[in-house]
Amino acid sequence: MSTPASSPPPASPFPVPSASLSPSLTRAVSPPLSPRPALAPLAGVLASSSDATASVQLADQLELGAAALAVALVFFLVVHALVGLWQRCRPERYRALEAIGGQSSVSMAYFGASKRRTTITLFGLALISAALAACAMINPSNSRAPYYLIEGASYASLLVVFLFLRFVLARLLRLIDKLVSCCLFPDGYEVTMVYEYLPNTDISALAQTLKACCCGQKIIPTVQVFGDTGAMGAPRRLWVVGTWWGGRVIGRNELDLQQVPERTGLKGSSVIALYDEHPELRVASNIYELTFRIPADRLGSSQDLKWIDLQVPENSKSVFYVHWLKVRSLSASVRPSGGSEWIFPAYYKLGVNQFWTRVFEGMASLPHKDSERVRLARREALDVTSKEWRWQLYTRETGFTNEAWGAQQDAALPSACWFGRTSTNGVPLLGFSGKQQEFVPVNEYFGAQKTLDFYKAGVTSAIASFEAHLASKEALHETWRSSEEVTNTWLFTPLKAPLLWTSRRSVEAWQDDREFAAQLVQGVYPDSMVLMRSVPIALAPHLGASVGALCATQRLPSGLSVGELLRQKSLFLSDVSFVAEYQPLAQGPAVGAMIVTVKLPASKLLSFVGIKLNWTDETGASRTQWYSPEEDTPADWLLAKTYARFALSNQHEAVVHALDCHLRSEPYAVAARRCLSVRHPIYKLLYPHLRSTILINFLARQALISPGGVFDTVSTLAGSKQGFLKMMADQYAQYGPLHQHVPRKLRAAGLMPEQCALKEGDYPYRDFALPIWDQINALVSQTVLAFYTSERDVLDDNELQAWLSELQTDGFPLGHFRSSNFQSRAELIELLTTVIWVASGRHAAVNFLQYSQMAFGPNAPLWAHKLPPAKGVVSTSDDVLAYSTTRSASVGQAATVWILSQYGSDKLNLLPPPGERYQELWTSGPGLDAVKAFTDKMALVQVDGERNAEGTTHGSSLKYEVLLPAQVPGSVAI
Ligand SMILES: [Fe+2]
Repeated sequence: MSTPASSPPPASPFPVPSASLSPSLTRAVSPPLSPRPALAPLAGVLASSSDATASVQLADQLELGAAALAVALVFFLVVHALVGLWQRCRPERYRALEAIGGQSSVSMAYFGASKRRTTITLFGLALISAALAACAMINPSNSRAPYYLIEGASYASLLVVFLFLRFVLARLLRLIDKLVSCCLFPDGYEVTMVYEYLPNTDISALAQTLKACCCGQKIIPTVQVFGDTGAMGAPRRLWVVGTWWGGRVIGRNELDLQQVPERTGLKGSSVIALYDEHPELRVASNIYELTFRIPADRLGSSQDLKWIDLQVPENSKSVFYVHWLKVRSLSASVRPSGGSEWIFPAYYKLGVNQFWTRVFEGMASLPHKDSERVRLARREALDVTSKEWRWQLYTRETGFTNEAWGAQQDAALPSACWFGRTSTNGVPLLGFSGKQQEFVPVNEYFGAQKTLDFYKAGVTSAIASFEAHLASKEALHETWRSSEEVTNTWLFTPLKAPLLWTSRRSVEAWQDDREFAAQLVQGVYPDSMVLMRSVPIALAPHLGASVGALCATQRLPSGLSVGELLRQKSLFLSDVSFVAEYQPLAQGPAVGAMIVTVKLPASKLLSFVGIKLNWTDETGASRTQWYSPEEDTPADWLLAKTYARFALSNQHEAVVHALDCHLRSEPYAVAARRCLSVRHPIYKLLYPHLRSTILINFLARQALISPGGVFDTVSTLAGSKQGFLKMMADQYAQYGPLHQHVPRKLRAAGLMPEQCALKEGDYPYRDFALPIWDQINALVSQTVLAFYTSERDVLDDNELQAWLSELQTDGFPLGHFRSSNFQSRAELIELLTTVIWVASGRHAAVNFLQYSQMAFGPNAPLWAHKLPPAKGVVSTSDDVLAYSTTRSASVGQAATVWILSQYGSDKLNLLPPPGERYQELWTSGPGLDAVKAFTDKMALVQVDGERNAEGTTHGSSLKYEVLLPAQVPGSVAI
């Protein structure tokens, strides 16, 4: 039935000023609806706020609601307390507590599920106070208003008193607990475990985690701890720390375990408090410390607790990173030798695809110096890890294979790790792909914070790429038209790489000779050059033929004699002409270069003599062209420099960075896991330098260097012809394990201060690298000589010999290791020093400057758009850009080097902050002494380095700081 148009509309309970509404809106409001009966009283009250009667009615209702809430709250507290007491008094609960060592107490009964109860109580009291305050405010003239206020204030006071009492009571009961505990277990043990929780798996696990965190629960792994009781045979089970995944917590509430986030220094706080501390990181920094007591009979009267086995259920979807355990004897009659406690450094991740590990007491020892019992325990543990870290050969033709290949002559790159089995726990959430679980043992995974940082950098990089693509109005495969165009590409993203670059320098800096010279001595190509002892045949037409330094009489345009410069040891050559051999055709050209530089007495930086480019043209003919800064136009000279940096950059990414630092480090990590016990001093020594190497390499192979990876789109050499990988394979075959031995390499290149005109201060990479090398060498020597008291010890160490044997046969199967065993401590020291240097200082030098020097594509291009033109074709710097990197390639390059140049949040630097150590596995003994001495020396190197860094700014180049020990991460895992 329709409403007659003439009938007057009823008055609206919500007066609407008609002038402020459009006619259509007015029509929409009219005709108004009658208030529903249930809302009528409230509507009436609101329609006339001055109606005293209605105000009183509303206040009465609110007061009634507050009273009902108070009753409900009391009822809830009583019922909850009764249920809690009943739950905690039931027999099986006591049995469970007894199984984990007793410690039932008053506080356990009181604080069971107290978080939820406290939250509800506080919320209820606050709501009652607010309701009563509202009663008073609705009608201040009401005679009952003061009573409402007093009543509300009373509830608010109750809230404060409740909080205070809870605070006091909690501490009081905890004190009682301690006293009771001391009385119950006067001769027991106090066990402490520090661990970290990593939500690194699937969605359901993450959801459970968040739920638990929101409820204030502690995430406790189901960890069964076994100990060596001193008897031969299988160790007996000692205690269960707790369980979480089964849905029932035997954890904080029952045990009243202290939760101390170690690194934040917060005590007694919950996960929620940690969130407050790190609002931007929702799952980071949850490092917990569990402390509880166990009766003496659980451990017996062992004086010699040597190892503990840690185990999580095989359906564990979460990752628990156990940092260390400590067992402290409370009895004067049971003491470990040399103190009152046993320390078990673990630093081991469990879950997803690894569920068991054995950690040993912190004192290191060689296997043949251990007792038979401990030797057997070491062997058992290695039997397990050698099944988890398996060799994976990277062949030239087929790439990776899942077969166990053993020694093969067609190995293309250093062998890698293969875990060999997939997890059954579902789809990984934070892994790049399910492959990660197949190839990488969970113990190699990043920590929670670093994982998040990594993904944040990845997302930032992706957004930056997207923005650059959007901003680019031209076709992406085209080249840039001007320097300004490159820098104006990024406007909004946090990356802003080229913008940062230009804000520190100038847009034209990439054209400056000083920028290129700085790249050669303190940049991304820090040791590409060698001293020219004579003129190479290829350069004879330009520099004059010579036999040694005597016959080169040709003069450079500056008037200097080449022969004289050779005698002064002032000429240097960077030869990357071989890059042209990897002619990709399908992608674009490959151009090689020979760069001749000179150190003039009047200048601190190198000057350029000339650049000889070489390439294969479209007809297949070999072509070369010599360029000189004094003979050619500025545009042609810039063109030559751009191609030279193209060759250097490709060599840098493929060989210097990916192959020599990352891939060559991996076999040492795999062999160490397979052959060296965690109790072995060499394992402890290498540990900080090999951590997460396997994972970062896996990610690099997945995303960057393998066919189809990022380098296919940013480097001309990659793509379908795989010149990038071929260059890596060829270079890999040429050099042995001591290739990066710093003093030897510098001496062979003639670059030591006494060998050439580059005196101290002229060659920052060398000047910063040598002191670090010396200290690493001292650390290794001190450690090795302390544990290997004779050469015989080296031969008798079967774990060490197995490590070398696997490196020879499986890790580097191309014969890089000439001997199948070590004969002397000197050999061992030399190899270990090189391994540690490559993973730390060497990698830092070639990795962390990538962003500042390569983000601006033309400054270090990986892509060449066209073959070099004839001289005179280019006349401006913008003309040169047409031959260099494309928009697409340089955007990809900038985004990639952004990620690669990030410092990991959990890195262990060679010089750690005060109070921290970069070597975590040592707890005492000569190994720890060596680390302390190393840290002291590194502090001195840091001071010297900071002083010397002041003199490393030349023109547009940045201060050289990547080799300051406080900025050098121990391993290649950025
Ligand atoms: Fe790297």
